[in-house]
Amino acid sequence: MANHRLDSGRGTPPAPQDGRLDAPAFHRNNGIITAQLRDLLGGRDGDVVELGSGTGQHAMAFARAMPDMTWWPSDANADRLTSIDAWCRHSGLANLRPASVLDVTQNPWAPDPPGVPLEAGLAAVVAINLVHIAPWQAAVGIFRGAGRHLGAGGVVLLYGPFKRDGAHTAPSNAAFDAGLRASDPAWGVRDTADLGASARDHGLTLRRALPVAANNMILVFEQSP
Ligand SMILES: C[S@@+](CC[C@H](N)C(=O)[O-])C[C@H]1O[C@@H](n2cnc3c(N)ncnc32)[C@H](O)[C@@H]1O
Repeated sequence: MANHRLDSGRGTPPAPQDGRLDAPAFHRNNGIITAQLRDLLGGRDGDVVELGSGTGQHAMAFARAMPDMTWWPSDANADRLTSIDAWCRHSGLANLRPASVLDVTQNPWAPDPPGVPLEAGLAAVVAINLVHIAPWQAAVGIFRGAGRHLGAGGVVLLYGPFKRDGAHTAPSNAAFDAGLRASDPAWGVRDTADLGASARDHGLTLRRALPVAANNMILVFEQSP
């Protein structure tokens, strides 16, 4: 665990024994991601599923910044739930719900425990740094599940590095991509065109690609007319 102060919202460093894990990248990028998500989701209410929540720190920050929405963190890796739920308890936020195991490649999605209100119609599906650190089938699974479970006007928001029309947007992204593929040939920085095509297969349209600091983007997918 990084030995620096966490943005816990209470100004206290973490008590390691309570299970909260700290991802250093969270401290670098959460501020700008939260600001962008608040702009994109502001004024909405309803349920949001976060996929691949990892430590759970982003979900906590999003829930605090967007109190009218109910946030449902999740991850395919059951081991992650300890940290996510520890951050949830530590935050004391009523609109941040307990985590579920949810593997987006499952068809249909089957959260465990099954408390996520998938059938009620989600306001948004959010995934931060997921589709490049997972096989392509994870991206397909996000659109398939979102296409099935978004309510009217619902959106999918993906944050991470992306290629545009087959090209990296920065040399550092190309190097990052090479490193990812060396770790696992099934991983890699995804192209917005490929993501848009897969989204279309599930009734979603890529509407916006918003540049974010450090050569990342937030992709906004809406339901196709
Ligand atoms: C790079 S981490 C990002 C964690 C967090 N979103 C963040 O940005 O700090 C990717 C996360 O996606 C999860 N993941 C990978 N494949 C997944 C899948 N098929 N379904 C859901 N989550 C998945 C991993 O377990 C991991 O926690």
